[in-house]
Amino acid sequence: MLINTFDSREQLAQGCAEKIAEGLAKGCAERGQASLAVAGGSTPSPTFRRLAAIDLPWPQITVTATDERLIPPDAALSNYRLIRDDLLFGPAAAASHIQLWSGDGSFQDAARRADEAVSSLLPFDISLIGMGEDGHIASLIPKSPALNLGLALDGAPAAIFVPEGEPTPVLPRLSLTLRALTDTRLVIVLVTGTAKLKVLETATENPALPIHHLLKQDRAPVQIFWAE
Ligand code: 6PG
Repeated sequence: MLINTFDSREQLAQGCAEKIAEGLAKGCAERGQASLAVAGGSTPSPTFRRLAAIDLPWPQITVTATDERLIPPDAALSNYRLIRDDLLFGPAAAASHIQLWSGDGSFQDAARRADEAVSSLLPFDISLIGMGEDGHIASLIPKSPALNLGLALDGAPAAIFVPEGEPTPVLPRLSLTLRALTDTRLVIVLVTGTAKLKVLETATENPALPIHHLLKQDRAPVQIFWAE
């Protein structure tokens, strides 16, 4: 587990954006296309905005979310909206944006459609993953009834339905599975603050934490990007 430490959150955002851009540029140069899965939540927006400013062949790039809340795509908490507004603006608006949840249909149908859509993008060039202080990644959440399927590496779909639960998630969600999140050339875990760093430092000894399984897998290299 390589931890890249930065002196400020501004430097973290710039360093993470440059690392993502490096992977996307390589994919486009080698294969004429590249794909990126990104986390939602409150951490990644500074990285998104700096990535949007980097000169990349955006028409050759496809972006999707690592997970989605099952709310209208224009809702404030929608990751689709977050990616559209904070990343895919300006020249980056020319990228393809794959929606995990269109806002209609049953949640099970939505999971099937998301599984198909994500499977067509694999392998990703970069998976940008966030983590909660409970060690969840994407919407793979401790004690969730969907967690076993979400963490299965063999035979799991690329995306699953995650029901709301106590204490989280408050909203039902779709989540990429560990199999999909690690079907990538590089995983970046973007985290800030000492609480999350402490979780990471002990995670390899705690299989109850979803992040444990990401750090222990050998399908894709993992780099942590962290600042206080
Ligand atoms: C989401 C994310 C989720 C997030 C973590 C960390 O949609 O909420 O994909 O996995 O990365 O919960 O969230 P913060 O960045 O807000 O701490």
